Amino acid sequence: MISLDTSALGTIDSSHGLSDLELASTAGKLSAFLEKIKSRNQGFFYKEILEDDSLVEKILHFAATTKGKYQSIVILGIGGSALGPIALREAFGNPFIKSSPELIVLDNIDPDLMAEATEYLDLKQTLFLVVSKSGGTPETVSQYFYFADELQKADLHLSDHMVFVTDPVKSFLLEEAEKYHVRTFPIPSHVGGRFSVLTAVGLLPAALIGIDIKKMLAGAVAMRDKFVDVNAAENPAFQLATIQYLLLQKGKSQNVIYPYAQKLYRIGDWCRQLIAESTGKRFAENGDEVFAGITPIASLGATDQHSQNQLYFEGPNDKLFMFFEVEQFQNSVKIPLPSDVGDKLDYLKNTDFGTLLNLEKAGTAGALTQVDRPHITIKLPKIDEHAIGEIFILFEGATAFLGEFLGIDAFDQPAVELSKNITKELLLKR
Ligand code: PA5
Repeated sequence: MISLDTSALGTIDSSHGLSDLELASTAGKLSAFLEKIKSRNQGFFYKEILEDDSLVEKILHFAATTKGKYQSIVILGIGGSALGPIALREAFGNPFIKSSPELIVLDNIDPDLMAEATEYLDLKQTLFLVVSKSGGTPETVSQYFYFADELQKADLHLSDHMVFVTDPVKSFLLEEAEKYHVRTFPIPSHVGGRFSVLTAVGLLPAALIGIDIKKMLAGAVAMRDKFVDVNAAENPAFQLATIQYLLLQKGKSQNVIYPYAQKLYRIGDWCRQLIAESTGKRFAENGDEVFAGITPIASLGATDQHSQNQLYFEGPNDKLFMFFEVEQFQNSVKIPLPSDVGDKLDYLKNTDFGTLLNLEKAGTAGALTQVDRPHITIKLPKIDEHAIGEIFILFEGATAFLGEFLGIDAFDQPAVELSKNITKELLLKR
């Protein structure tokens, strides 16, 4: 299992860190928060979502029957419909080798991106996954119309080249599916977009590119069992939310998600959306105007040591750093030190890139401690499907708890609607 190392919090100045007493101070709230979360009918941790064997079999069957048929799997989707699949592709792929099939995520509507994708794709060998919970997101619907038209112009059937992943009860895509006999997979109504990575949203593309989705769900279930544990000492999601919340009270309004592993970089983007859309709320549930929120920042070690660390060490002390550390990398790559370079570089003697990367993380963490900046580390024994499933539920669970700490609804996004409506008005006015 992954683990949470919070030991550094007690070693820095108390105005920026957290003592064991402070960390334990919230334990009495856990049961009530869990009940409140359960009453919200948000299914991201439900048995029927994480242990839906029949859906898993359907997805695996679909992946098996389409094996070898498509060169490119293209997701048309945005936000919660895109960031999970991107994180999964990056966690398990070799970035230098085009996988077969490859997974492309078009989560923007930039005309140049659309034109370049069209130029690149061989439609005969492409499967589009149109992923939209609501089925009405303008970006995704316009991409769908565009590629449906391209397919039709090429005399190809939508039913052979498209799959819809959407709400099974109410979605424009359901009407289109009926019209064009397109296969659908569900995003259950009670799972919100940014909490949907462990539904068909993430599972389908993951299975199509060969990720072991059963193992990922097993990891998610193992962490879910901890998330519903009423003993705070056994509940890492509650501990994480406690740290985020208590440090927010001490002015740490930004969370830096800082994996020291290239493969986990895009997990940072997934977390970024989850934390931002869930916590950024003008009103508390009691109607008070609170302007709540934590600003998440995605960083990457060691790369950002030479880009962001100067700010992190000497800029405003308003951040909580969340490192990800991998104990055992998939590859052990030695650093050969030529014998004729003298002793200046002795520190690189008998070492390898994994050790260097982890010690660079320790260097960054140690420097943060010295300048009284709070940090925690999420430790992964290795990057595998089990650990990634655990991470998804750890952060989803922590975000749900954070919503309760803040007295807000972590599951809505009222402000996003505002810009959508203005855009629609502007389009209609043209
Ligand atoms: O978390 C959310 O609900 C949003 O970020 C959505 O994922 C995003 O707006 C896309 O919505 P949809 O899946 O309905 O197209």
